[in-house]
Amino acid sequence: SPVVALVPAAGRGVRLGENMPKAFVAVGGTPMVRLAVDGLLASGAVDRIIVMVPVELVESAVALLPPSDAVRVVVGGAERTDSVRAGIAAAPDAGYYLVHDAARALTPPALIARVAAELRAGHRAVVPALPVVDTVKTVDPHGVVTGTPDRAALRAIQTPQGFAADLLRAAYETNVLATDDAGLVERLGAEVHTIPGDPMAFKITTPLDLMLAETVCNAARS
Ligand code: CTP
Ligand code: MG
Repeated sequence: SPVVALVPAAGRGVRLGENMPKAFVAVGGTPMVRLAVDGLLASGAVDRIIVMVPVELVESAVALLPPSDAVRVVVGGAERTDSVRAGIAAAPDAGYYLVHDAARALTPPALIARVAAELRAGHRAVVPALPVVDTVKTVDPHGVVTGTPDRAALRAIQTPQGFAADLLRAAYETNVLATDDAGLVERLGAEVHTIPGDPMAFKITTPLDLMLAETVCNAARS
Protein backbone atom coordinates (compact mmCIF):
# COMPACT_ATOMS: atom_id res chain seq x y z
CA SER A 1 0.00 0.00 0.00
CA PRO A 2 1.25 3.48 -0.89
CA VAL A 3 3.52 5.48 1.39
CA VAL A 4 2.53 9.14 1.24
CA ALA A 5 4.78 11.81 2.75
CA LEU A 6 3.02 14.86 4.20
CA VAL A 7 5.33 17.87 4.43
CA PRO A 8 4.12 20.68 6.72
CA ALA A 9 5.65 23.83 5.19
CA ALA A 10 2.96 26.38 6.01
CA GLY A 11 4.49 27.91 9.13
CA ARG A 12 5.43 31.59 9.39
CA GLY A 13 8.90 31.09 10.79
CA VAL A 14 8.46 33.68 13.54
CA ARG A 15 11.40 32.41 15.60
CA LEU A 16 13.72 32.37 12.60
CA GLY A 17 12.79 35.99 11.89
CA GLU A 18 13.55 36.07 8.15
CA ASN A 19 11.33 38.14 5.84
CA MET A 20 9.51 35.11 4.40
CA PRO A 21 7.88 31.91 5.67
CA LYS A 22 10.61 29.60 6.93
CA ALA A 23 10.19 26.73 4.46
CA PHE A 24 11.03 29.17 1.64
CA VAL A 25 14.24 30.40 3.26
CA ALA A 26 17.31 29.05 1.46
CA VAL A 27 19.91 26.81 3.08
CA GLY A 28 23.07 26.53 0.99
CA GLY A 29 21.20 28.25 -1.85
CA THR A 30 18.16 25.90 -1.90
CA PRO A 31 14.82 26.57 -0.15
CA MET A 32 14.25 24.29 2.83
CA VAL A 33 11.03 22.84 1.39
CA ARG A 34 12.90 21.76 -1.77
CA LEU A 35 15.67 20.15 0.32
CA ALA A 36 13.09 18.26 2.37
CA VAL A 37 11.25 17.00 -0.73
CA ASP A 38 14.52 16.00 -2.42
CA GLY A 39 15.46 14.01 0.70
CA LEU A 40 12.13 12.18 0.66
CA LEU A 41 12.53 11.34 -3.05
CA ALA A 42 16.14 10.21 -2.49
CA SER A 43 15.01 7.83 0.26
CA GLY A 44 13.32 5.64 -2.34
CA ALA A 45 10.75 4.83 0.36
CA VAL A 46 7.99 7.26 -0.61
CA ASP A 47 5.40 6.89 -3.39
CA ARG A 48 3.87 10.36 -3.23
CA ILE A 49 4.49 13.67 -1.50
CA ILE A 50 1.92 16.29 -0.41
CA VAL A 51 3.42 19.65 0.56
CA MET A 52 1.32 22.05 2.65
CA VAL A 53 2.23 25.73 2.21
CA PRO A 54 0.79 29.18 3.03
CA VAL A 55 -2.09 30.08 0.68
CA GLU A 56 -0.19 32.90 -1.03
CA LEU A 57 2.81 30.68 -1.79
CA VAL A 58 1.18 27.75 -3.59
CA GLU A 59 2.41 28.89 -7.02
CA SER A 60 5.93 29.67 -5.78
CA ALA A 61 6.09 26.23 -4.18
CA VAL A 62 5.01 24.48 -7.38
CA ALA A 63 7.69 26.43 -9.28
CA LEU A 64 10.52 25.54 -6.94
CA LEU A 65 9.66 21.88 -6.37
CA PRO A 66 10.73 19.13 -8.77
CA PRO A 67 8.21 18.77 -11.64
CA SER A 68 6.88 15.31 -10.80
CA ASP A 69 3.44 13.70 -10.77
CA ALA A 70 4.44 12.31 -7.38
CA VAL A 71 4.65 15.78 -5.78
CA ARG A 72 1.56 17.89 -5.02
CA VAL A 73 1.15 21.25 -3.26
CA VAL A 74 -1.91 22.08 -1.15
CA VAL A 75 -2.86 24.96 1.15
CA GLY A 76 -1.89 24.47 4.80
CA GLY A 77 -3.63 25.88 7.87
CA ALA A 78 -3.20 28.26 10.80
CA GLU A 79 -1.66 25.65 13.13
CA ARG A 80 0.63 22.78 12.21
CA THR A 81 -2.16 20.39 13.13
CA ASP A 82 -4.41 22.11 10.54
CA SER A 83 -1.71 21.75 7.90
CA VAL A 84 -1.29 18.02 8.56
CA ARG A 85 -5.06 17.57 8.50
CA ALA A 86 -5.13 19.24 5.05
CA GLY A 87 -2.42 16.85 3.88
CA ILE A 88 -4.32 13.79 5.11
CA ALA A 89 -7.44 15.00 3.26
CA ALA A 90 -5.41 15.36 0.05
CA ALA A 91 -4.21 11.73 0.21
CA PRO A 92 -7.15 9.62 1.42
CA ASP A 93 -5.85 6.48 -0.32
CA ALA A 94 -2.55 6.26 1.57
CA GLY A 95 -1.60 3.02 3.32
CA TYR A 96 1.05 4.77 5.39
CA TYR A 97 1.80 8.41 6.11
CA LEU A 98 5.23 9.85 6.81
CA VAL A 99 4.82 13.31 8.32
CA HIS A 100 8.03 15.25 7.78
CA ASP A 101 8.74 18.91 8.66
CA ALA A 102 10.13 21.05 5.83
CA ALA A 103 12.19 22.68 8.58
CA ARG A 104 14.18 19.42 9.02
CA ALA A 105 15.70 20.17 5.65
CA LEU A 106 18.95 18.22 6.09
CA THR A 107 17.40 14.92 7.24
CA PRO A 108 19.39 11.98 5.80
CA PRO A 109 17.38 9.90 3.29
CA ALA A 110 18.53 6.78 5.16
CA LEU A 111 16.57 7.88 8.27
CA ILE A 112 13.44 8.33 6.14
CA ALA A 113 13.91 4.85 4.68
CA ARG A 114 14.35 3.37 8.19
CA VAL A 115 11.05 4.84 9.40
CA ALA A 116 9.25 3.43 6.35
CA ALA A 117 10.88 0.02 6.83
CA GLU A 118 9.67 -0.13 10.46
CA LEU A 119 6.12 0.57 9.28
CA ARG A 120 6.36 -2.19 6.70
CA ALA A 121 7.68 -4.46 9.45
CA GLY A 122 4.38 -3.97 11.30
CA HIS A 123 4.84 -1.05 13.71
CA ARG A 124 1.84 1.28 13.43
CA ALA A 125 3.56 4.41 14.74
CA VAL A 126 7.30 5.08 14.42
CA VAL A 127 9.30 8.15 15.50
CA PRO A 128 13.04 8.96 15.44
CA ALA A 129 14.37 9.72 18.92
CA LEU A 130 17.64 11.06 20.32
CA PRO A 131 18.89 11.19 23.91
CA VAL A 132 18.46 14.61 25.54
CA VAL A 133 21.72 16.44 26.31
CA ASP A 134 20.35 19.13 28.65
CA THR A 135 18.77 18.43 32.01
CA VAL A 136 15.05 19.16 31.59
CA LYS A 137 12.95 20.63 34.42
CA THR A 138 9.28 21.39 34.82
CA VAL A 139 8.34 24.85 36.17
CA ASP A 140 5.21 26.53 37.46
CA PRO A 141 3.78 29.76 35.91
CA HIS A 142 6.22 31.80 38.08
CA GLY A 143 9.23 29.93 36.73
CA VAL A 144 9.78 28.04 39.98
CA VAL A 145 11.07 24.51 39.42
CA THR A 146 8.53 21.81 40.20
CA GLY A 147 10.45 18.76 39.14
CA THR A 148 13.36 17.15 37.30
CA PRO A 149 12.39 14.13 35.19
CA ASP A 150 15.05 11.45 34.94
CA ARG A 151 17.00 12.42 31.84
CA ALA A 152 17.78 8.82 30.97
CA ALA A 153 14.08 8.28 30.25
CA LEU A 154 13.71 11.39 28.05
CA ARG A 155 14.09 11.59 24.26
CA ALA A 156 14.02 14.43 21.77
CA ILE A 157 11.69 13.45 18.94
CA GLN A 158 12.30 14.23 15.28
CA THR A 159 10.55 13.66 11.95
CA PRO A 160 9.71 11.84 9.73
CA GLN A 161 7.07 10.28 11.95
CA GLY A 162 5.48 7.26 10.32
CA PHE A 163 1.95 5.93 10.84
CA ALA A 164 -0.42 3.32 9.54
CA ALA A 165 -2.84 5.54 7.64
CA ASP A 166 -5.99 4.52 9.54
CA LEU A 167 -4.29 5.30 12.86
CA LEU A 168 -3.21 8.81 11.85
CA ARG A 169 -6.64 9.53 10.35
CA ALA A 170 -8.31 8.46 13.62
CA ALA A 171 -5.88 10.63 15.63
CA TYR A 172 -6.76 13.65 13.51
CA GLU A 173 -10.47 13.18 13.97
CA THR A 174 -9.96 14.49 17.50
CA ASN A 175 -9.70 18.27 17.67
CA VAL A 176 -6.81 18.73 20.07
CA LEU A 177 -3.54 20.54 19.33
CA ALA A 178 -0.20 18.80 19.74
CA THR A 179 3.39 19.74 18.87
CA ASP A 180 3.86 16.44 17.08
CA ASP A 181 1.70 13.88 15.36
CA ALA A 182 2.67 10.99 17.62
CA GLY A 183 1.25 13.01 20.53
CA LEU A 184 -2.22 12.70 19.01
CA VAL A 185 -1.74 8.98 18.36
CA GLU A 186 -0.64 8.46 21.99
CA ARG A 187 -3.94 9.93 23.18
CA LEU A 188 -5.72 7.11 21.35
CA GLY A 189 -3.70 4.68 23.48
CA ALA A 190 -1.70 3.38 20.52
CA GLU A 191 1.89 2.23 21.01
CA VAL A 192 4.52 4.52 19.46
CA HIS A 193 7.78 2.80 18.56
CA THR A 194 11.06 4.78 18.65
CA ILE A 195 14.08 4.24 16.43
CA PRO A 196 17.44 6.02 16.74
CA GLY A 197 17.20 9.53 15.31
CA ASP A 198 19.94 11.39 13.49
CA PRO A 199 21.56 14.68 14.55
CA MET A 200 21.25 15.88 10.93
CA ALA A 201 17.47 15.68 11.21
CA PHE A 202 17.58 18.72 13.55
CA LYS A 203 14.82 21.30 13.10
CA ILE A 204 15.90 24.70 11.79
CA THR A 205 14.04 26.93 14.24
CA THR A 206 16.29 29.85 15.22
CA PRO A 207 18.94 32.01 13.46
CA LEU A 208 21.61 29.88 15.17
CA ASP A 209 20.10 26.72 13.65
CA LEU A 210 20.22 28.37 10.22
CA MET A 211 23.91 29.21 10.70
CA LEU A 212 24.57 25.59 11.64
CA ALA A 213 22.69 24.33 8.57
CA GLU A 214 24.61 26.70 6.26
CA THR A 215 27.90 25.58 7.76
CA VAL A 216 26.99 21.92 7.27
CA CYS A 217 26.08 22.59 3.61
CA ASN A 218 29.34 24.45 2.97
CA ALA A 219 31.39 21.71 4.63
CA ALA A 220 29.63 19.08 2.48
CA ARG A 221 30.58 21.04 -0.66
CA SER A 222 34.30 21.46 0.07
N1 CTP B 1 3.94 24.28 9.94
C1 CTP B 1 2.84 24.19 9.07
N2 CTP B 1 1.70 24.89 9.33
C2 CTP B 1 1.62 25.69 10.41
C3 CTP B 1 2.71 25.78 11.32
C4 CTP B 1 3.86 25.05 11.05
O1 CTP B 1 2.91 23.47 8.07
N3 CTP B 1 0.51 26.39 10.61
C5 CTP B 1 5.19 23.57 9.61
C6 CTP B 1 6.38 24.50 9.46
O2 CTP B 1 6.39 25.06 8.14
C7 CTP B 1 7.55 23.60 9.74
C8 CTP B 1 6.95 22.55 10.70
O3 CTP B 1 5.54 22.70 10.66
O4 CTP B 1 8.04 22.96 8.58
C9 CTP B 1 7.49 22.72 12.12
O5 CTP B 1 7.01 23.92 12.67
P1 CTP B 1 7.93 25.09 13.23
O6 CTP B 1 9.34 24.69 13.31
O7 CTP B 1 7.26 25.64 14.45
O8 CTP B 1 7.86 26.17 12.02
P2 CTP B 1 7.12 27.59 12.02
O9 CTP B 1 5.77 27.45 12.63
O10 CTP B 1 7.22 28.12 10.63
O11 CTP B 1 8.08 28.47 12.95
P3 CTP B 1 7.63 29.41 14.19
O12 CTP B 1 6.88 28.51 15.16
O13 CTP B 1 8.92 29.92 14.72
O14 CTP B 1 6.76 30.48 13.59
MG1 MG C 1 5.57 26.88 14.71
